Amino acid sequence: MKGIGATDVVEEASTLALSAADWLVESLGKTPRPTLLLATGQTPLHTYAELVARGTGAPHLVEGATFFALDEYCGLDAEDPRSFRNTLWRHVAKPLGLSPERLVAPDGLATDPHAEAVDYENRLAARGYADIAILGVGTNGHIAFNEPGVPFDLPSHVVTLTEETRIANARTFGADPSQVPSRAITVGISTILKSRRILLLAQGEAKRRAISELLSGISSPQWPITALLSHPSVHLITDREAWPEG
Ligand code: F6R
Repeated sequence: MKGIGATDVVEEASTLALSAADWLVESLGKTPRPTLLLATGQTPLHTYAELVARGTGAPHLVEGATFFALDEYCGLDAEDPRSFRNTLWRHVAKPLGLSPERLVAPDGLATDPHAEAVDYENRLAARGYADIAILGVGTNGHIAFNEPGVPFDLPSHVVTLTEETRIANARTFGADPSQVPSRAITVGISTILKSRRILLLAQGEAKRRAISELLSGISSPQWPITALLSHPSVHLITDREAWPEG
């Protein structure tokens, strides 16, 4: 059975953010001019707020850093507040003082999204992939937008989102899943696994099944999160509700 390197189970969302920020500050301190791969979504928002709070008095924390989004919806302009680029810009890159070109995301309006995915992979490869990846997890076990059944060796690609994912992400689309774009460009599992260190965050009861599959130690494309079992440096932080073992 394979396992995850280190796990913290914390009481609630606010303590998760503190614990995650501790890990990040420590990791950033070891990494000059870091390349980060960043999740959007609800889970990391408190963590980003905490990172911003700590970075405010310590500009060296992200000096020379480049942030890459894990994924982006097809059909949304980068300026659209629902786009992942715009969300990451507002919540973390801008408050930390990054210049706009230091936040990179796939172009959701690319006329050829498949070519855009290839280009995105190449841009990450040119930087030697990520020093640090911050991941959330979907209720169906997706990481980035790698939905169940995805081959683990796929690089960045275009994905058709599952109904479950569109329902889970409807909150920023007027709570109407039909308004959530049906396709996205996502980094692949293989792209994520090339990151030097991975921070995986899970919050809330809806994530318990996915964490349980991870803790089973059995790797299966039906639960993309289990691809992380083959990575040597994953730090998992969950709150009590997402933790299956009590
Ligand atoms: C978003 C992403 C997704 C989310 C996941 C959980 O960039 O990569 O894998 O991390 O869907 O989303 P929340 O945190 O909203 O439950």
